[in-house]
Amino acid sequence: MRDMLSEQPHTFSSKAGVTPEGLVLVDNPCTGSYSLPEVLNRVILGNALEVLGKLPPASVDMVFMDPPYFLQLPKKELRRWTVKTAVEGVEDDWDKFASFAEYDAFIARLLEEVKRVMKPQATLWAIATYHSIFRIGKIIQDVGYWILNDVLWVKTNPMPNWLGVRFTNATETLIWAVKDKKAKGYAFDRELARAFGMGKVGANVWVLPICTGAERLKDEHGKKLHSTQKPAELLRRVILTSTREGDVVLDPVAGVGTSGHVARALGRDFIMIEINPRYVEGIRKRFQTVPKPFSEPPSP
Ligand SMILES: C[S@@+](CC[C@H](N)C(=O)[O-])C[C@H]1O[C@@H](n2cnc3c(N)ncnc32)[C@H](O)[C@@H]1O
Repeated sequence: MRDMLSEQPHTFSSKAGVTPEGLVLVDNPCTGSYSLPEVLNRVILGNALEVLGKLPPASVDMVFMDPPYFLQLPKKELRRWTVKTAVEGVEDDWDKFASFAEYDAFIARLLEEVKRVMKPQATLWAIATYHSIFRIGKIIQDVGYWILNDVLWVKTNPMPNWLGVRFTNATETLIWAVKDKKAKGYAFDRELARAFGMGKVGANVWVLPICTGAERLKDEHGKKLHSTQKPAELLRRVILTSTREGDVVLDPVAGVGTSGHVARALGRDFIMIEINPRYVEGIRKRFQTVPKPFSEPPSP
């Protein structure tokens, strides 16, 4: 699997003919709507709550949503007992909300806007840790989606619980849903789902490492560019099990663009939205390479 995650130089060519230079579309507040060709295989720099309303209705086949976690970390610095170095958590401004009510309202707006853009048979994935996944799951149901599954991502290399006062948290939960209970004909590759899942029955548990090493995008100081970059292998599983070639994958809170990057490598189209120009610049650079072809068989 390690080999699959390394990257190689590549001349960019997509169905929409967008080059890395033309990859980024800066949302114009005066623009009322975008046509599909205008946004296909592009990352839109802007606020998802505004941009989603400008996308054509019923235009995407799958949504991958990895929203802010609202971790509410304590102000004090957390230090590792043994080596006394500081623990780097998620302290970004984008993860800060004034209250649960404000966070819930943000998630509800995202889910409502995204639903309008989904085709009738499209599916939605939402991922989060225990800090917010239960709230997100309730809101998903409140907004009228129908949950098909949850998939538990078990991390083989989680951050230890340095203070030793709780279990080490080694999981994130993905919720997979359709627009409503009546939705039929959504994409699902049951053979791959079995192959990716745990044990003989291919249960809804995916065991794989967090994004580290060469796969992790770095800033100009060699530090992580994004605190919560997801592993390409996670997105490979999401995309292969729930989309068909040529489908359109939408990521409204794209971070450093893992979803679109993997989608493109797997022959899918994408639309990404991200509010932070630093991350969008990271995506632009990232698109000068593609992940090596995902040719290896899925690990059992
Ligand atoms: C958990 S991260 C996503 C990480 C991503 N999956 C990856 O692999 O890089 C959430 C992202 O949402 C972005 N974000 C937060 N509010 C947003 C908004 N209103 N519109 C667009 N993006 C937003 C943040 O800047 C952050 O990069």
